[in-house]
Amino acid sequence: MIRSSKKLYHILEVCRQKRKTVGFVPTMGALHEGHLSLVRASRRENRVTVVSVFVNPTQFGPKEDFSRYPRVLSHDKRLLSECGADYLFYPSVQEMYPEGLLKPLKIPGAKWPVLAKGLCGKFRPGHFQGVVTVVAKFLEMIKPTRLYLGAKDYQQARVLTRMVEDLSLKVKVRVMPTVREKDGLAMSSRNRFLTPEERARATMISRVLFDLRKGLKKRQKTIRELKKQALRELERHVDKVQYLEVVDADWLVPARAYGGDLAALTACFVGKTRLIDNVIIHAS
Ligand code: PAJ
Repeated sequence: MIRSSKKLYHILEVCRQKRKTVGFVPTMGALHEGHLSLVRASRRENRVTVVSVFVNPTQFGPKEDFSRYPRVLSHDKRLLSECGADYLFYPSVQEMYPEGLLKPLKIPGAKWPVLAKGLCGKFRPGHFQGVVTVVAKFLEMIKPTRLYLGAKDYQQARVLTRMVEDLSLKVKVRVMPTVREKDGLAMSSRNRFLTPEERARATMISRVLFDLRKGLKKRQKTIRELKKQALRELERHVDKVQYLEVVDADWLVPARAYGGDLAALTACFVGKTRLIDNVIIHAS
């Protein structure tokens, strides 16, 4: 486990001099199979795999669950060594933000701020600014060949892909499929907060999205009709729906008519726990 970014940079500099490829998997810990699928993908495609575990304060709003977010370092260490990750980067807040937390960095970009506006961006103001900031810092410290992200956080993956393009970074972004529980629930560090009763209801999130995907593939009803129907169904099972949207899969703007690839995304509360999920509908 490495805590200092300088030390990590120097270790990786030696790897790069030996022409070894470096895969990087950023996480906030409380690792599960979803995270491990990214680690495995990185191991397949690179000589060296670096995983960060850092609960990033700048991506949480003042009323969000930063202090409640699960921190289980010894569990994470065990899973990572079983999985064969080479380096665990576990920086302190001071290490990541020596300049302090009060003045957020403004990461430039023509396109990523556009993608960060709607969906989760609307309900979590400043969230993607924090995500982009911390990932940009990691990329500068680690200079990986490939960056691994999960499709589970689809908007985040789109925002970060665009940020990499906006800044002309050399890293190749790899977005890997969502890993789900047997009943369809997308794996998430926050699932551990669900009571058994909430856990049973949470399965409806993916079920509604899978049905919506079927409808969108068939194209027998309008997007608007299908969305309304899905929303009604979801509202019957969860405690609050923040959004359920069908958007253009690239630009995340609401899709009014069939055409290119679509994404159906939702964020909702089951009890006090906020869960997100999505499905992609390919046009061809
Ligand atoms: P975290 O929620 O820990 O997720 C780390 C990575 O694992 C993200 O790329 C996320 O999309 C992916 N992931 C989570 N659950 C997954 C699942 N069920 N299937 C596939 N991939 C999954 O996302 C963050 O942390 C943070 O915002 C971070 C990018 C680390 C910046 O702080």
